[in-house]
Amino acid sequence: MAERKEGNMEVRLAECAGFCFGVKRAVDTVYEQINTGKTIYTYGPIVHNEEVVRELEEKGVIVLESKEELLELECGGTSDVKGCTVIIRAHGVPREICDIIAQKGLECVDATCPFVKRIHRIVEKAGAEGKHVVIVGNPGHPEVEGIKGWCSGPVTILETVEEAEKMLFSEGEDICIVSQTTFNYNKFQDIVEIFQKKGYNDSVVNTICNATEERQQSAKALASEADVMIVIGGRHSSNTRKLYEICSRECANTYFIQTLDDLHLELPKAVRLVGITAGASTPNKLIEEVQNYVRINF
Ligand code: F3S
Repeated sequence: MAERKEGNMEVRLAECAGFCFGVKRAVDTVYEQINTGKTIYTYGPIVHNEEVVRELEEKGVIVLESKEELLELECGGTSDVKGCTVIIRAHGVPREICDIIAQKGLECVDATCPFVKRIHRIVEKAGAEGKHVVIVGNPGHPEVEGIKGWCSGPVTILETVEEAEKMLFSEGEDICIVSQTTFNYNKFQDIVEIFQKKGYNDSVVNTICNATEERQQSAKALASEADVMIVIGGRHSSNTRKLYEICSRECANTYFIQTLDDLHLELPKAVRLVGITAGASTPNKLIEEVQNYVRINF
């Protein structure tokens, strides 16, 4: 590596990378709340990034891992819950969780991303109108569970073309199709097309977030030029995994790292361009660290 001549290689960051608007807003909210001196809980980790969560835990923020843990807060006695704030993360939560927080008289600070909140309102309205809600997304993802929790009528979650092909609705049933904010745009279109070919009376709302599309497109553009691509993000972050998938298709030498410690780069001399992108839960500090490391060491 030491043989590489200075200026030989370019390190370029994707045009859109890192914290999206909603995640930045949620993380900033937690820091603001820490300053109030109250006991701060987040319902689930505030972002899918272990580094960020660890830093917040060091500042006293407690992560509630489940509904049961939230319910137990009440059991702990009033002295434990006085002056407690529960922050809802950008992914949002089912309505039931908001109700529990309210019933307990805990302070609720809702940092649900406004784009996710919009989906909650769409499905709530669709449910009230008697429509069958179809959520296109990963059924195990908290955002999808949250969206489901705002549906009052029938709801189906699916994520593949095959599932859409098998899906049958009752005759005359109106359906309302929404998507997880981080869902792949083309895959969503394919699924919607299947329902439209079947002739269902559907209303489709593309609720894929621009931040996701922008990140995916700029990652793809950069990966198609790059000799090596580095994708930074949390192991459990679905949008980071999607970026990795997209980049891997364009660039065979794509690395998925969570922190700088995971990066074990061997760059042959022929490498001219190293591209870097990062999931929506990756803080700027970490992106800069990786960028500087590659610039200085190669
Ligand atoms: Fe919100 Fe889009 Fe981020 S929905 S949380 S701004 S990826």
